[in-house]
Amino acid sequence: MHAFTLTGTSGPTALQPTEVATPTIGAEEVLVRVKAISLNPVDFKTSYGKGAYSFIKQESPLIPGWDISGEVTQVGANVRQFEPGDDVFGMINFPGHGRAYAEYVAAPANQLARKPAAITHEDAAAATLAAQTAWQFLVTKANVQAGQRVLVHAAAGGVGHYAVQLARELGAYVIGTSSAAKRDFVFALGADEHVDYTQGHFEDLVQPVDVVLDAVGGETTGRSLAVVKPGGTLISIVGVSAELGARAQANGIQAYFFLVASNGEDQAAIAERLADGRLRSHVSLTLPFAQLPDALRQVEGGKTQGKIIVTL
Ligand SMILES: NC(=O)c1ccc[n+]([C@@H]2O[C@H](COP(=O)([O-])OP(=O)(O)OC[C@H]3O[C@@H](n4cnc5c(N)ncnc54)[C@H](OP(=O)(O)O)[C@@H]3O)[C@@H](O)[C@H]2O)c1
Repeated sequence: MHAFTLTGTSGPTALQPTEVATPTIGAEEVLVRVKAISLNPVDFKTSYGKGAYSFIKQESPLIPGWDISGEVTQVGANVRQFEPGDDVFGMINFPGHGRAYAEYVAAPANQLARKPAAITHEDAAAATLAAQTAWQFLVTKANVQAGQRVLVHAAAGGVGHYAVQLARELGAYVIGTSSAAKRDFVFALGADEHVDYTQGHFEDLVQPVDVVLDAVGGETTGRSLAVVKPGGTLISIVGVSAELGARAQANGIQAYFFLVASNGEDQAAIAERLADGRLRSHVSLTLPFAQLPDALRQVEGGKTQGKIIVTL
């Protein structure tokens, strides 16, 4: 089968089209014929030897990627919930070896959900790592409640555009940051308030919040402390230094980093919302599989609105 293998750590150029054996499946796995793959910043970071590289560098062949939507072609002996012909989607083995940049993927059945019939494989593939991150941040970690004020940084990006929609569904008052060009998009997602981070300091414009989702990192993380209420939470999906964690604690704020992990139950909760329209994917660019390295360079540009997908 066709796949992209990672042959070095020079970035997207290190991804080489390669013929590899079609995977065999274990008793708890299904074989998925992939129709769409979604790309994330961790994908390009991994191609530079960062991101999830340390978890998978010993694998050979090393097939990166985690986010797929496709059709089940085989089921393992112990799999009861899927059968050949079912359309499924999910984030496979994150942060381990997902092997998603391929025509076929062997996926643990308990990391998949049924693709809603009403949405495309592109929209389903989009709503995997980014949507699970938003879900696990809001529901599992921050336990956001109706009436709370939530600040979502990078609200127009992959994680952010799901986080705004889900926080709104939870009944939160949602403030989203982006540049001015994406203001209308952020409001259309359901944000109550928009802050253009390019026009001054967001911390001068935002009234205190209960929860911050930091999807930007760097100085944005530290500056976000200033807008969190005592007793509130700052969760960064990019990184929190020990110094920042201690400074937060001294102010009665919890600040920590969290890494998403593959979870089929969370994927099913997302599927339910995609099916009834409570949650929508915004795919801003779709390229053919052969152009996967180009798609990754687009993600690396840091300006993605919603998600970037490749199709097979
Ligand atoms: N820890 C985890 O589990 C986890 C999971 C998923 C993602 N991540 C990380 O989280 C980060 C975001 O991921 P993503 O998929 O959402 O990325 P993405 O889709 O590439 O984000 C792109 C968006 O970021 C916005 N942006 C850039 N700088 C900004 C700033 N200073 N303030 C506000 N918005 C800004 C851009 O908006 P403008 O064009 O308007 O600037 C753009 O829409 C990445 O570093 C990724 O690796 C971590």
